[in-house]
Amino acid sequence: MTTARLFSGMQPSADSLHFGNYAGALLQWINMQETHDAVFCVVDLHALTVPQDPAKLAENTRKTAAQYIASGIDPHKSTLFVQSHVPAHSELAWLLNTVTAFGEASRMTQFKDKTQKQGSDNATVGLFTYPILQAADILAHDANVVPVGEDQRQHIELTRDLATRFNQRYGPVFTVPEVTVMEGAAKIYDLQNPTAKMSKSGESPAGILWLLDEPAVLTKKIKSAVTDTDNSIVFDPEHKPGVSNLLSLLALATGKAVGDVVASLSGGGYGALKGEVAEAVVAKVAPIREKTHELLGDPAELDRLLALGAEKAAATAEATLGRAHEALGLLPRLH
Ligand code: TRP
Repeated sequence: MTTARLFSGMQPSADSLHFGNYAGALLQWINMQETHDAVFCVVDLHALTVPQDPAKLAENTRKTAAQYIASGIDPHKSTLFVQSHVPAHSELAWLLNTVTAFGEASRMTQFKDKTQKQGSDNATVGLFTYPILQAADILAHDANVVPVGEDQRQHIELTRDLATRFNQRYGPVFTVPEVTVMEGAAKIYDLQNPTAKMSKSGESPAGILWLLDEPAVLTKKIKSAVTDTDNSIVFDPEHKPGVSNLLSLLALATGKAVGDVVASLSGGGYGALKGEVAEAVVAKVAPIREKTHELLGDPAELDRLLALGAEKAAATAEATLGRAHEALGLLPRLH
């Protein structure tokens, strides 16, 4: 049996990943790289679909890659690369544009959500065709498994539809991927607004735990987390979202089940709980932060690791692109 190929991607759109990204995606990827032939991509071309400051984009691309590695993505075991380093992704996206119906692309709810406030008139065409580039990412690598959050399900369904249609029209070029929504992943909520998912666009900076926060900052945010007034420690996300979120954080940071975490608490109310959460989160995050800074301190070495990833990624992506060209009747490239 051959090992299933896994592909996933993350935008380099923030300075630091937050604990929600870590819990919701990165941890699953780190576990899955043990059992899959895993390919991870920093999708810088996707980031360009909204305005970016060039210097910041470059910095955030390195920072995102460094945080993946520092968290446990092994660039030698898995393939870790930057999307723009493998031009076959963009080329394949063009080919897929030509088999995507305008109406089909218009039904993507993420585009509608992202343009809801300002209307779509000034949104870029890149934002509109974003899911087609995403399909190219996945199909270029013959991915079988694409672990994503629920918000990406529709994009993976589109990928499946495009692959199936292309294969029917032109022959068996693409592997049709499964959708793997990461339901087992712990959900982490905003510390100040614990009914909203922890997100980089959260309203209060105190609500977000960044992987690159200093230990004292993490501790302060955790100690100021919103709880409730009855001082009883029970996991009940509906009625006690703040306390339940702290318990999820503790479980995640210690690698234990929530039930065991609750059982192991020795009383002392919310103050003591917050103390334990802070200690566990700092113990988990501090080494990641240090390793990230170490990697960023030697950008030449980091770039070398990314070049290694790009070389591996290009071999697969170019082979897929070659098959697509041939199937479509594009003349062979003799140079
Ligand atoms: N759109 C994904 C997100 O915002 C990122 C992404 C780009 C991706 N290409 C991908 C995810 C391919 C999985 C597979 O989270």
